[in-house]
Amino acid sequence: MCGIVGAVSTKEKILPILLDGLYALEYRGYDSAGVSYFKDKKIKIIKAKGKVKHLEDKINSEEKTTIGIAHTRWATHGEANTVNAHPHQVKHITLVHNGIIENFLELKEMLEKEGYTFKSKTDTEVAGALLDYYYQTTKDIDETIKKFMSKAVGSYAILFLLDNDDTSIYVLKKESPMIIGLGQHLNLIASDIQAILKYTNTYYLVGDLEYAKVKANEITFYNKDGNEITKDVKTYQEQGDELGKGSYKHYMLKEIEEQKDTVYKTIKKYINKGINSLLELPDLTKYKEINIVACGTAMHAGLIAKYLFQEFTNTRCHVYLASEYRYQNNFFSKNTLTIFISQSGETADTLAALKLVNANNLDSLGIINVKESSIARGVQKVLYLETGKEIAVASTKAYTAQVALLSLLVLSHGYRKKLLSKEEVEDILAEFNNVSTYIKQVLLAKDKYQSIAKEISQEENAFYIGRGLDYYISMEGSLKLKEISYIHSEALAAGELKHGTISLIRKGTPVIACATDKKINSKTVSNLEEVLARGAKVYLLTDDITITNDSFTIVRVPFTSSFLKAIIAVIPLQLIAYYTADLRGTDIDKPKNLAKSVTVE
Ligand code: G6P
Repeated sequence: MCGIVGAVSTKEKILPILLDGLYALEYRGYDSAGVSYFKDKKIKIIKAKGKVKHLEDKINSEEKTTIGIAHTRWATHGEANTVNAHPHQVKHITLVHNGIIENFLELKEMLEKEGYTFKSKTDTEVAGALLDYYYQTTKDIDETIKKFMSKAVGSYAILFLLDNDDTSIYVLKKESPMIIGLGQHLNLIASDIQAILKYTNTYYLVGDLEYAKVKANEITFYNKDGNEITKDVKTYQEQGDELGKGSYKHYMLKEIEEQKDTVYKTIKKYINKGINSLLELPDLTKYKEINIVACGTAMHAGLIAKYLFQEFTNTRCHVYLASEYRYQNNFFSKNTLTIFISQSGETADTLAALKLVNANNLDSLGIINVKESSIARGVQKVLYLETGKEIAVASTKAYTAQVALLSLLVLSHGYRKKLLSKEEVEDILAEFNNVSTYIKQVLLAKDKYQSIAKEISQEENAFYIGRGLDYYISMEGSLKLKEISYIHSEALAAGELKHGTISLIRKGTPVIACATDKKINSKTVSNLEEVLARGAKVYLLTDDITITNDSFTIVRVPFTSSFLKAIIAVIPLQLIAYYTADLRGTDIDKPKNLAKSVTVE
């Protein structure tokens, strides 16, 4: 989703720094890019539709300039073209913006009456006009920003240049992330630490309804009333992604492979000293109920945890899509722990749901990958994934690490509640100690996944089915397929198939089933027979060696306890989706219309 980078330096070579920032932001997903900078006291703007490379081709990166702002845009208001791309210029103000100005129509109407006209369809141009209007009426930049902040509704991270000041970048923030990095003779501003890591790992966080003036040798922060405030410098510990894709064709394939290490790395400190280390996980016994709030793949990880919490700890657990949770009537109770799962830690809906929980003074726990992200900072307690940076838009290694951490949380809870015995817990911990071996084993069967992908890649529809835990695993498999291959795909509880969707089954329709629960596998197999009888091509992923059927293509995975099943079973589904998409020639790491970090609702 949209990304921002800005730079101001005492040295005259800012454009390569801005381009580095834009390239580093590419993974978030976008459809146009632009840059604006001072050249001989005049503001220049260059924009391009499509990739940052297209923008780079239009730029003379040798051009001397000490100050500039840049943006990658993921279209919200108005299609992806150079008119709607940022930066936008409205008289004195040139700006880039992440977020959504919700009252932009009302503001636009008001500004039109004041004589403003608009070239683009964006809310950003309206924000620029509002800033210009206040600047023209007050002739004072602090008054301008204060008035803007009290008038604009919605979320924004804004950088702007003022046409008569070629030394400062102005920074405004509300509910959309923004940091200011400290480089050598250089200050950098970005929506995402990745954009500046090549130059610095020390930075300030800009808080909600705060603003800043950034010069090459000076940064000043203010609150919404215009009073100066002080800030602590933070240090980002993780390394940038220096290795790139290596020999892998796509980041997604690299990240799928990396799971043989990342799952173990994430859970190691909770398993290496047996039950003692497991009990270092938060004690949940005081809670009667667990709520899980997340989006996309992270929500699917939540569903696995729900199954395990209910099945093994007799604890009621609800999973909510953050976009629904934030607007529904929630029955907040002190006896509830709310767990927020997010790879990026910046997803706008999840963050909004967290604010709601915090406003009601309820306990919260985050399962997050990106350190120091907004959600990580907002929760009471955070457990970090140790997967390193996930670049491919379709989440893989974050999902398995989320599931692993959540599974251990369930295990510790079951043990504390005396519903799981010491022996049972030790057996499961022994399995977790071997998780890398299990993962390596499933990664080996690539030929099988490739031949399945070859068949599926010819189709335009696919269905995934399962029961219980397998239904939730199927949901993730189905999401992976649709997001990167653009094949329409649905996941269904196997028992629901007959209540509608079976009407869509025809000759050759792929139906991919997951059956890893001995108690109910036979039911799922019966459902497969039903679709087979209607011409479907049937694929079955199972750890049950008693199931054999020559009419099915069977993918066998190693048998484990329920706590590891989702981690092991999802990997073949990730690879089937990957190879299918590769055969269809899609842009696997950056699928069309999708974004890695969804910072608008
Ligand atoms: C986007 C990404 C998904 C991710 C979801 C939630 O849709 O493309 O991969 O699962 O957002 O993101 P989060 O960062 O909160 O886990």
